Amino acid sequence: MPFVPLYGEESVPAFCLPELLRSEAGHAIETAGQWNTVRRPELLRLFREHVYGFPPAADPHFRVEIRESGFAFGRNALREQVRLRFGSDGRAPFIDLLLYRPRSPHPVPAFLGLNFKGNHTTTFDPVVFSPASWVSEAAPHGAQQRRWPYERILEAGFAVATFYYGDAAPDSPLHWREGLARLAPAQHEGPLPTGNEPGAVAWWAWGLSRALDYLSTYPAIDSRRIAVIGHSRHGKAALLAGAEDERFALVISNDSGCTGAALSRRRIGERIVAINERFPHWFCGNYHRFNEKEDRLPVDQHQLIALMAPRPVYIASATNDHWADPVGEYQAAVAAAPVYALFGFPQVAAALGNGMPAPDTSVGDRIGYHIRTGDHDMLAEDWRHFLRFAGRHFCEA
Ligand code: GCU
Repeated sequence: MPFVPLYGEESVPAFCLPELLRSEAGHAIETAGQWNTVRRPELLRLFREHVYGFPPAADPHFRVEIRESGFAFGRNALREQVRLRFGSDGRAPFIDLLLYRPRSPHPVPAFLGLNFKGNHTTTFDPVVFSPASWVSEAAPHGAQQRRWPYERILEAGFAVATFYYGDAAPDSPLHWREGLARLAPAQHEGPLPTGNEPGAVAWWAWGLSRALDYLSTYPAIDSRRIAVIGHSRHGKAALLAGAEDERFALVISNDSGCTGAALSRRRIGERIVAINERFPHWFCGNYHRFNEKEDRLPVDQHQLIALMAPRPVYIASATNDHWADPVGEYQAAVAAAPVYALFGFPQVAAALGNGMPAPDTSVGDRIGYHIRTGDHDMLAEDWRHFLRFAGRHFCEA
């Protein structure tokens, strides 16, 4: 039977979320220390075992090849294009990173995120290369420029770096192992991830961490102020990267929906069965056991958001993006708030308000949220809120 999504609050069944602040042994988690030593590791292990797979067991070392550098945007900024090559032979996998940074005498904070169709699609800057790796469809220069308002980001004092997600793992059930996954021996026969083997989303997150390794050594960038950001499937990867790698100082999920920020137990819009059938290479094999069995999943997505604590995290939705369940994204943000109280931020839940905020209004403090009027996309209006949120946490602290 083809999957038929349900929409509307009346379709949401009664459900109980798995507890955030109680350990598997049944003990209440009352301090930040208990969270860090008991509950956080438990939850991370559950997400690895049942949802995303364990982090890839691959050699993280790479060589840096500077491919191009120069002034950008009327000499106000600097551009650098580097290849991070994992291995010494010419066929070794690589990530081609595009970096823009403002000219500044001090190390600056930065955003790092994946792009869908190649670095050249994020800008009309003619010098930016298109991907050398596997690419499903050729896209013209600047085609996704609306998602990357570089000049505004630079004017706000941030650097910004991106790479084509297909460099890390081609987004195809047949080809996803042809990127960085070549660095790790396949754990099982067959084309799809099985058991708790990492799928494509885990490889995208792993690639983000390697780009962070590079940015952390970059003198003009402040390694303590690097945010990871992602739209949609890249929002899922950004949340996982932030959960796995606490060096990311701030995490932004835009329209990440099912297995991103949205609560799975609401069972509206995209469901686990739908995502596993259409994208069987994204998550670990074990995740398929929860097709149409959301109640049996030992975790839900509020707990993924909670793994960012006490770091600031921002969840964004769009009014027409019913497939991603905006209400489920908002409710997950609210349900993650109690963990922030353990870290001395008792007001996080109250700051998110009592129910969905009006469209285009940003709410929250350490957990931020907005719902933009319009479609599934990441636009300058979203970045306006992200820049303000990151500015508040990075520049006014
Ligand atoms: C599909 C998929 C979503 C995903 C989205 C995207 O719609 O079902 O889970 O977030 O693609 O990445 O744009």
